[in-house]
Amino acid sequence: MKDSDKKHINYKEHWNKVYSSNDMTNLGWYEEIPKPSLDFISECGLDKNAVILDVGSGATTLIDNLIQQGYKNIIATDISTIALEKSKSRLSKENSEFVKWIVDDITNPQNLDNTLKVDLWHDRTVLHFLTKEKQQDGYLAALKRVVKKGGFVIIAVFSLEGAKKCSGLDVVNYDHKMISEFLGNDFELIKYLDHLYINPSGGKRPYVYTLFRRENI
Ligand SMILES: C[S@@+](CC[C@H](N)C(=O)[O-])C[C@H]1O[C@@H](n2cnc3c(N)ncnc32)[C@H](O)[C@@H]1O
Repeated sequence: MKDSDKKHINYKEHWNKVYSSNDMTNLGWYEEIPKPSLDFISECGLDKNAVILDVGSGATTLIDNLIQQGYKNIIATDISTIALEKSKSRLSKENSEFVKWIVDDITNPQNLDNTLKVDLWHDRTVLHFLTKEKQQDGYLAALKRVVKKGGFVIIAVFSLEGAKKCSGLDVVNYDHKMISEFLGNDFELIKYLDHLYINPSGGKRPYVYTLFRRENI
């Protein structure tokens, strides 16, 4: 049994503390340019008006980069209010118009619009924190509720060779086949990438990036 299954963790408090006590450039997942994500997104060939949902967005520079590339309908959601505030504070007033900020727990979303439909679900390192079946089921239900038929899903997590903990929390390690199994038959694996991310302290963090397309029927 994982440590996180044994004790009660207030995830919102945990993540707010992480973001309030660290400069984002020192965080163990910081990327100046989130290249693997941007490459996978460009593979989707989305219209600039496509709805892109970044799940567990944190304070990522992905948002700045997507705006720079001309995307106009971005939704950044995270359990941490402080993370989203940090992200938002970097943007000009003009650029903020292209982003909706929604504080929510993706395993049991209360604030995401019930009728929301997205062209792309992007998650870099949320799924691997979900160690309990109930959390994973909630995440999958949210994903299936919001991803359009024919829409895309990008999930990037620690690979089987990757770290077993992140930010003091247990993680579940995956390979592309496990993510494929998790999503089920409606989602076709288009590509995956084993990527060695080097964190700001020089630590090696093997990730797997996956891109899926939802059936269009
Ligand atoms: C390792 S950070 C990655 C942040 C961002 N995706 C990036 O690549 O920089 C994981 C993020 O997931 C968020 N998170 C963790 N559990 C969550 C949940 N149940 N619902 C929504 N966000 C969550 C955390 O607040 C944190 O911002």
